[in-house]
Amino acid sequence: MRTLILTPEEIEKAATLLKEGELIAFPTETVYGLGAPIFNEKAIAKIFQAKGRPADNPLIAHISDLSQVDQIAVDIPPAFDVLADAFFPGPLTVILKRHSDVPLIASGGLDTIALRMPDHQIAQNLIAAVGQPLVAPSANRSGRPSSTKAAHVLSDFSGKIAGVIDGGDTEHGIESTVVSLLGNEVILLRPGAIPPEDIEAVLGRKVVIGDHKTPGSPGMKYRHYAPNIPVRVFGNLEELSENLRPGTFVLLPKGERLDHNSVTLLNATTFYAELRHAEEKGFEEILIYMDKSVSKNLAFSNRILRAGQLK
Ligand code: TXA
Ligand code: MG
Repeated sequence: MRTLILTPEEIEKAATLLKEGELIAFPTETVYGLGAPIFNEKAIAKIFQAKGRPADNPLIAHISDLSQVDQIAVDIPPAFDVLADAFFPGPLTVILKRHSDVPLIASGGLDTIALRMPDHQIAQNLIAAVGQPLVAPSANRSGRPSSTKAAHVLSDFSGKIAGVIDGGDTEHGIESTVVSLLGNEVILLRPGAIPPEDIEAVLGRKVVIGDHKTPGSPGMKYRHYAPNIPVRVFGNLEELSENLRPGTFVLLPKGERLDHNSVTLLNATTFYAELRHAEEKGFEEILIYMDKSVSKNLAFSNRILRAGQLK
């Protein structure tokens, strides 16, 4: 299969391919997603196959209009309306009870469904043109850094999917925040582009920070966000500098300096792109200095630490 690189003007063509059951990657405000129509089981199965994704890791349903919520979720709590009002469209994913019409495969066998409305014109137009929500995981092979450019999607899926809509670099470069509204508590299942404090401010109640042991958070138990070369994370610049070699690629927070030939800024927006860049350029190892300014950013430090876990 030849993977088409589509322009934002070719939404109709992309929508037609999706309706025919083909996979199309598209930009959102966070990272690129790999889409399939939510009511097409066969197409969804192709996503799991193309990504090499474990079958128990559920997908996020992307909507373009609030009227689509009732097609995919039931027993919607009042807190959902408050969050949707404040954050939709935007990088917030909410877990609700799944509508029985939604294929089990979409939610990894769970009776719940993740839902978000991306704040991106291409994504919204595409969903509207297909006429149903699109399930879309991040458009990377399972375990790899998410794609923030169409070129990253091609690097992981060229010849394996029908096309990618090239919408340039994504705005946030980090995935959406995932919260569960299923129980009495609001639980943060994945830190992301929206900080939990913002959610607490809107809801007027505490958000409980989940961890990998939190039930109902299947994605957090898998290795993620990692390039094919080792990534080591340091809390101390001196210790990092003792580990420099010619083939080392270094990421440093703003304002930090080091006498080495490949030092790049450590920044959430460009983080995944830098990991992929270092790997493509043939570097042997990536060293990251995580200072306090970075470690207090829950979502960014989570991605850095998980990229750094050994395979
Ligand atoms: O920003 C984003 O969220 C991007 C863009 C494309 O929208 N998507 C994304 O999808 O990051 P993915 O599949 O890479 O990550 C989805 C996360 C996983 O950690 C998954 O386990 C969790 O959301 N998730 C999805 N459905 C869930 C559910 N029903 N219950 C609990 N967690 C769920
Ligand atoms: Mg992902």
